[in-house]
Amino acid sequence: MPRIPEPVIDQVRLSIDIVDVVGDHVALTRRGKSFVGLCPFHDDSTPSLNVSQEKQIYKCFACGAGGNSFTFLRDIENISFIEAVRQLADRAGIALPDAKPADPDQQEVFDQLYRANELAVKYFHHLLTQDEKAADAMAYLKNRGINRDVIDAFSLGYAPDQWDGFLQVATRRGFSPQILERAGLVTPRQTGGGFYDRFRNRITFPIHAATGRPVAFGARALDPNEQAKYINSPETPVYNKSATLYGLWRNRDAIRDAGVALVVEGYMDLIALSQYDIENAVASSGTALTTDQARLLRRYAPKTILIFDGDTAGATAAMRGIGSLFEVGLEVRVVTLPEDHDPDSYVRAHGLDGLLGLTENAAPATDFLMEQFAQRDDLSTIDGKTRTANALAELVGRIKDNALKQFLIKDIAEKIGIDEEILIGIAQTQRRTTRPQNGQPEPESYDTRPRSERELLTFLMQHPETADSVFSQISPENFTNSAYRQIATLIARNRQQKQPIEIAHLINQCNDDRLSRILTHLSLEIGIENPNIDVPIQDYIHKFQLKSLEGEIELIEKQLRQPLSPDDLHATLEKHRLLTAQRKAMAEPK
Ligand code: UTP
Ligand code: MN
Repeated sequence: MPRIPEPVIDQVRLSIDIVDVVGDHVALTRRGKSFVGLCPFHDDSTPSLNVSQEKQIYKCFACGAGGNSFTFLRDIENISFIEAVRQLADRAGIALPDAKPADPDQQEVFDQLYRANELAVKYFHHLLTQDEKAADAMAYLKNRGINRDVIDAFSLGYAPDQWDGFLQVATRRGFSPQILERAGLVTPRQTGGGFYDRFRNRITFPIHAATGRPVAFGARALDPNEQAKYINSPETPVYNKSATLYGLWRNRDAIRDAGVALVVEGYMDLIALSQYDIENAVASSGTALTTDQARLLRRYAPKTILIFDGDTAGATAAMRGIGSLFEVGLEVRVVTLPEDHDPDSYVRAHGLDGLLGLTENAAPATDFLMEQFAQRDDLSTIDGKTRTANALAELVGRIKDNALKQFLIKDIAEKIGIDEEILIGIAQTQRRTTRPQNGQPEPESYDTRPRSERELLTFLMQHPETADSVFSQISPENFTNSAYRQIATLIARNRQQKQPIEIAHLINQCNDDRLSRILTHLSLEIGIENPNIDVPIQDYIHKFQLKSLEGEIELIEKQLRQPLSPDDLHATLEKHRLLTAQRKAMAEPK
């Protein structure tokens, strides 16, 4: 039977949340620190299944079933333990060794990768604190206000200004260059064979996996002219970037006690906060938070506060991160720092109280998002509203927690000033269609003319009950704008089949992304360009008919300007006479 190395099983177990695993099969409700639901292993009538997020176990008080994520999946899907590990590893994005027959060396390789990283932590730390070579590095840290306690607490280190400082030490200790390369600590030379150190003349920040073992490094340049400010370890068999958070392992108890995690961007930010006794923080390391990272956080606290740099890049990273945090059901608040600050500089300038003042008044994520959108877009225009509604709907569409979803939809719809149903509709369409990369759809440009057709459609959407009367006088084919014609056809068909014609439903039926966006656009016009909802339907129909009549007359006049045979000329003139008479009759007040 294929064997999976113990550390990998641990990594998988620590990367997934039992609430997700059980939640896939059982509807769970939070009750205090645990979740309860109907036990799937016996015929349960009262919720006897108890799932502890803190302990990552489940237990049925009626039938006695119990275990962890792996045994739950194994028993509910009737698969082997190994298969359960595989499925969950897949879900956590953790690469498993090949499903070949047992590879006794595999375990050994993982072990060596961990031990190589451990050696690197010790070596770099020793150099920084004991070696003359690190004098500049030490001075740099001192200059930035980092004291010896912090250096020890975070095992900060110094990678020497040499090509093979670590390589030599490690090979002397019996590590092969190949293992060191797999650990991301050395890189093969371009020419001539051999390897050299990845980190040189840099301050090193060890990164720990959820198991507490060091698996990677971030390394900061001392030289301000250095091209890359930070160099980081690549992904390795023991380091899954998107499921690791800097500082989480060290701060996990503080996060659990506080019930809230502060999320900052940089290594230096996390360290500075710790120096000011704020220990419930993690650092996203400059990338947008992934859902795996969010899930990891959720295991320790239900709430998060994002404290991002006060520049546009910081705000953008925060906006992206919010999506991941929402997706796993975390409560999110946001602190926006002054333009030229990051958490490190802010806490050093304003002290603990200054920073706590900000976190206590952190704004709900939706307030922050609206503020950002309002800065980037004009929310008094329909285009601006559409873009914002789309971007927010994308976010809402990711949320699985229904209560949270409903709350946010209500909140956001109210803030943008659109109907809740519309937002729900957009969110549903977006899940089916490809999403724009940055969450900001291209501005929709389409021909909005003629106004009379647009008005009639928005009227119809607003007053579905008038549809029968409208379609008895106007056929969908009479719409000259092709998008409007398709929408009118959709409405008429729904009406015929006694299906609802609310916007959310219509959007659902559009298989064409462009059409659904036009529909959204139209629906947003309701109440803005069309404030006079008391205008009788007949007026819209009248205007519409008059307009199409004018279209026809125009067409005939164009024909009349062409050479025509005497017979055709006669017939065309007659048609023209009829139509203009009709127009005259229509234009006259009744
Ligand atoms: P910052 O540029 O805010 O760095 O990037 P910082 O942590 O505040 O560091 P100092 O104060 O300038 O020394 C935030 C994070 O983004 C990642 C690092 O994880 C960094 O902590 N980053 C940044 C990189 O990975 N590479 C880079 O070149 C820059
Ligand atoms: Mn900084």
